[in-house]
Amino acid sequence: MTLFSNIECLVTVNANGELFKVGAAMQDLGVINNGAILFDEKIRWVGSNNDVDAAIVDLHLGNDDVEFVDCSGQTVMPGFVDSHTHMVFAGNRADEFARRLQGVPYTQIAAEGGGILTTMNAVREASVQELYDVAEALATSALMHGTTTIEIKSGYGLSVESELAQLEAIELLRETHEARIVPTFMGAHDVPPEFKHAPDEYVDLLINEMLPKVAEHNLAVFVDVFTDAGFFTVEQSTRILLAAKKLGFLVKVHADEISNIGASAMAAELGAVSADHLEFTTESDMDAMLTAGTVATLLPGTAYTLRLPYPPARKMIEKGLTVALATDCNPGSCFTENMSTVLSLACANMHMSIEESIVAATLNGAHALRMSNSVGSIEVGKLADLVIYDVPSYSSLVYHFGVNHVWSVWVGGEENV
Ligand code: NIG
Ligand code: FE
Repeated sequence: MTLFSNIECLVTVNANGELFKVGAAMQDLGVINNGAILFDEKIRWVGSNNDVDAAIVDLHLGNDDVEFVDCSGQTVMPGFVDSHTHMVFAGNRADEFARRLQGVPYTQIAAEGGGILTTMNAVREASVQELYDVAEALATSALMHGTTTIEIKSGYGLSVESELAQLEAIELLRETHEARIVPTFMGAHDVPPEFKHAPDEYVDLLINEMLPKVAEHNLAVFVDVFTDAGFFTVEQSTRILLAAKKLGFLVKVHADEISNIGASAMAAELGAVSADHLEFTTESDMDAMLTAGTVATLLPGTAYTLRLPYPPARKMIEKGLTVALATDCNPGSCFTENMSTVLSLACANMHMSIEESIVAATLNGAHALRMSNSVGSIEVGKLADLVIYDVPSYSSLVYHFGVNHVWSVWVGGEENV
């Protein structure tokens, strides 16, 4: 058993067993000043440092059974849950980034056969080991920045063989990496050039070959689709997601990122677990998502990188939507694995409070992966995914931005960084 004692600022994100927080409850981080936590693989006790001796007796522990970690002057929080990334890829798009800085739109680069297709070409050339190596380095860096659960999407292979290679790399990472890895199949990320003139045939391939193979080999929990102008229509996306649901997958949608063609409304109608991006989402879309219980996953690093308008986070929180924050880590539209930076962008540019941003990046992110019964907050019975920051208060993570305040990272009660 490990004891974190004398924690100056213990942020529990306690939800009293609820699976997410909305509205005014997002202001409540369940902070305990001078707190303590007892844990093995799971959290066994959380409370005030003054009560820890009694807790040790209650748990029938002797002093020799407990390993002490003194957290004086430090902050402890649940590990971040990054519920939206594209970390398995190959190659580099720094040149496209530089062109975009000079004003060339993302959509123009995509229409020229660049963007996602640039990465597709690199991924098709890469071995599973090479894909794994890129993802491993990024996941390790994410962990060192306080992220303990990471969702990763395929979607840069866009052929049966290459999508499966990406998913195999993700599976290898899931088996070997210290962070918790959650796999998503996103064969509908773009239409590959060989189907450019017959996109519906690619949709057929996806439904008839790719999805059944992914299901057969148990390579994904979620299926995601990029529903937007120039990518997949609502009709095509609906076909794919209905087929995915039939096979038992949970579904997500890249929605309203570069335009609004009805993607988030479709996500709500299909009972998607989350709709992600939402830069161009309308109030009626939000109402539909609220009714459906679809999580609004916001990716302010993408709006920053692509100079898009930021999603209307305040309106979403006011309406009572479950708002989550994630990195979108990918080589094109947002190349960061640092969740603290995402929190800073969310607060500065989407007018979220520091407290709301932390709830969105922990408990609500976990809910966007349907994992908030086991991670996302520091509550008795949940997994001990804990991060110690060398700052006296959680506000420093957002206030003192652009640097890594992580002191150590624990996943399932084991110290990793
Ligand atoms: O989430 N929107 C679609 N997909 C990614 C971008 C991927 C890329 O440009 O490589 C996104 O922003
Ligand atoms: Fe994305």
